[in-house]
Amino acid sequence: LKIFCGNANRELAEEIVDYLGVPLGASKVKRFQDGEIAIEINESVRGADVFVVQPTCNPTNDNIMELLIMIDALKRASARRITPVIPYYGYARQERKSRARDPITAKLMANLITTAGADRVVTMDLHAPAIQGFFDIPVDHLPGVPILAEYFRTKGLEDVAVVSPDLGGVQRSRNLAERIGATLAIIDKRRPEPNVSQIMNVIGDIQGKTVIMIDDIIDTAGTITQGAQALIDRGAKEVYACCTHPVLSGPALERLEKSVIKEVIVTNTIPLDPEQKIPKIKTLSVA
Ligand code: R5P
Repeated sequence: LKIFCGNANRELAEEIVDYLGVPLGASKVKRFQDGEIAIEINESVRGADVFVVQPTCNPTNDNIMELLIMIDALKRASARRITPVIPYYGYARQERKSRARDPITAKLMANLITTAGADRVVTMDLHAPAIQGFFDIPVDHLPGVPILAEYFRTKGLEDVAVVSPDLGGVQRSRNLAERIGATLAIIDKRRPEPNVSQIMNVIGDIQGKTVIMIDDIIDTAGTITQGAQALIDRGAKEVYACCTHPVLSGPALERLEKSVIKEVIVTNTIPLDPEQKIPKIKTLSVA
């Protein structure tokens, strides 16, 4: 068993190898003068079962290329089996054609990863579970909910409703609600254009309750902060928010800080920059 990583989330890779009690594989990610990525694998992997920990988060394109080149290097070095561990799978939000001439980037990524030489993929909370089927190799699709549920159980909250910020997230929300003994409610949201959300209705009882909103991704934080405000406006007592993947781009931090949300619980599938480590955000490890 050998575990390597690129630059995307070294901290997580280090936590995983510590947990397993094995050293991190010796490798280097370098750059040519023109910016092209060069990978060095500095130990033998012949016949080894090799894992590469590399979420394809921002800088997405660089992280994807690092992963692909690393897989290629490992394959050409005769690794027996190569498993990219992609805790956050980037380009997943374009997983079907919703307008004429749209690309399907989630499938393109699956093609690239498979063609590079992956034998199996480990990932977490794909934006759409059907993306598993875009691969013709085995995909282990792990949920973040058990880790989030464990955190909320230890908080000892009472009279809790878990709220899905959109219809697509109902199954994940129900999973969390069942694990912590909460009721379920759903926000009816529309997205007139990418990164813009409009709340139509709240379906279910949140009156006087402690609410936990759960999403797969918090990106610009529009969905979660508007949702939280709508829930408070409709009588919720307090609102917690949680997600697996803290993309946190653009105005996300400012929105979260100014919002009515009491605490935002995220996992470390995507590493936070130092300025993103604000008191309101708590990070749980998926290692
Ligand atoms: C959308 O379908 C996803 O589940 C998230 O709700 C969305 O990506 C969050 O984006 P933002 O934080 O920019 O509203």
